[in-house]
Amino acid sequence: MDVSGGLLLFMIICISCLMLFRHGKSWKKERQLPPGPTPLPLIGNLLQLNMKDMVKSLSMLSEKYGSVYTIYLGSQPSIVLYGYKAVKEALIDQGDEFSGRGEFPVVFRFTQGNGIAFTNGEKWKNLRRFALQTLRNFGVGKRTVEQRIQEEAYYLVQEFKKTNEKPFDPTFVMSKAVSNVICSVVFGNRFDYQDKSFLALLSLINENFQLMSSVWGTLYNIFPNLMYYLPGPHNKIFSNFEKLKLFVLERIKMHDELFDANCPRDFIDCFLTKMKQEEKNPQSSFHTETLVMTTHNLFFGGTETVSTTLRYGFLILMKYPEIQAKVHEEIERVIGRNRCPSIEDRSRMPYSDAVIHEVQRFADIIPMSLPHRVIRDTQFQGYTLPMGTNIIPVLTSVHYDPTQYKNPNVFDPQNFLDDKVCLKKKDAFMPFSSGKRICLGESLARMELFLYFTTILQNFQLKPLVSPEKIDLTPQCSGLGNVPRPYQFCVLAR
Ligand code: HEM
Repeated sequence: MDVSGGLLLFMIICISCLMLFRHGKSWKKERQLPPGPTPLPLIGNLLQLNMKDMVKSLSMLSEKYGSVYTIYLGSQPSIVLYGYKAVKEALIDQGDEFSGRGEFPVVFRFTQGNGIAFTNGEKWKNLRRFALQTLRNFGVGKRTVEQRIQEEAYYLVQEFKKTNEKPFDPTFVMSKAVSNVICSVVFGNRFDYQDKSFLALLSLINENFQLMSSVWGTLYNIFPNLMYYLPGPHNKIFSNFEKLKLFVLERIKMHDELFDANCPRDFIDCFLTKMKQEEKNPQSSFHTETLVMTTHNLFFGGTETVSTTLRYGFLILMKYPEIQAKVHEEIERVIGRNRCPSIEDRSRMPYSDAVIHEVQRFADIIPMSLPHRVIRDTQFQGYTLPMGTNIIPVLTSVHYDPTQYKNPNVFDPQNFLDDKVCLKKKDAFMPFSSGKRICLGESLARMELFLYFTTILQNFQLKPLVSPEKIDLTPQCSGLGNVPRPYQFCVLAR
């Protein structure tokens, strides 16, 4: 054997010893974890998981290992929570322990632990509390934002009318309408529908949601150190994020130049005020990097989720025209044609409300929530989960739990209606997740879903280009999100 061969062998032995040592140390802790399929070194349970449809693989594994089990994504163990009972016991009953954010390298590479959604500890608490309070001060959950959505819904109807009943893809017009609401609160202005730079930003958000929901996003999350160096579509995620960051930075700069502490115009101004107040505090959670990422979280979170849900909802209503007709009937009866829908109408429109709930359950657009982690050593169902263990709460398993829904695979608004045809609240309804990390935009999203949905149906009948039986409701890709297949439709004036 020559010198280089000997050196290589020596290095291999050293690396193997190091891995065995590390594995030996963690094994002591990991043997207390719930059971699960046997992992292979480095790749973990990769062979048991279908990267194109993680939820399906997790569902199959739950048949063998039950509602709480361990899988290895690469060399990292994660605890899967499957079914309503397990998710509820963790996120709600032991909410504090399970409130940490788990590893999500595809986003972490960009956020570097700043912002709300991918932060932990005091920083997360401070930023989340501040964001919730500030959104409320700017009218989120109140009449002010309701009026903003109504105004935007009016613009949306005008855009739909311009199609002259010709086929079109609703993706970007919907995200423009939805995004404009959060833009008004965060940046202080809405964008014109013809604004090309706005469309470019929305395309970046849309593309990233798709890429992160694809095999590439999933692989990056499992093997970040390897994928970092490999070519492939996943690299687009990071260049897109950088472009979005530049836009946010530009906006912050504009705000800073015109800043007036006595007259905060929007979320960014309030954050700048807080930054200035805490300038001398080295522990402060409020600095430029957290401002950029918090703004980005609100902009990204506030755009793609609601518009994807609406897009899915329209597709579902075209597949079930009899349900669309019932919504039309209720709108006609409660609102009529001479005024726009308001949030007050919701309590008098249980059928439409039940349809929206059922769209959220059935479309299940964030199937595995965002990953959680336990923030301290935690006893759960007889196991000891060491501090920092990653948790995957499978929301699909809540929404499709046969103990909670009679025929979970069937789209049926009756799931949310009682015998008196009033809206029936279900505990196993968690599209916004549950517990301490529950979606920060829930109240805004629920307002938007109701007002956009009813305004569009008040004005139009949705007509598919193929017969309803041929409409495919299965997602185009499933990962971070369940993304509906692209489609075109016609909107006929009523
Ligand atoms: C239909 C619409 C929406 C759905 C289905 C949705 C769903 C979710 C889910 C499942 C999570 C993860 C919760 C967890 O970690 O357990 C989340 C977190 C979050 N969402 Fe939403 N969301 C929606 C709309 C919005 C809107 C409109 C905003 C912005 C105003 C927003 C901002 C956020 C933020 C900032 C977080 C992180 C919360 C944290 O880590 O503390 N979301 N959302």
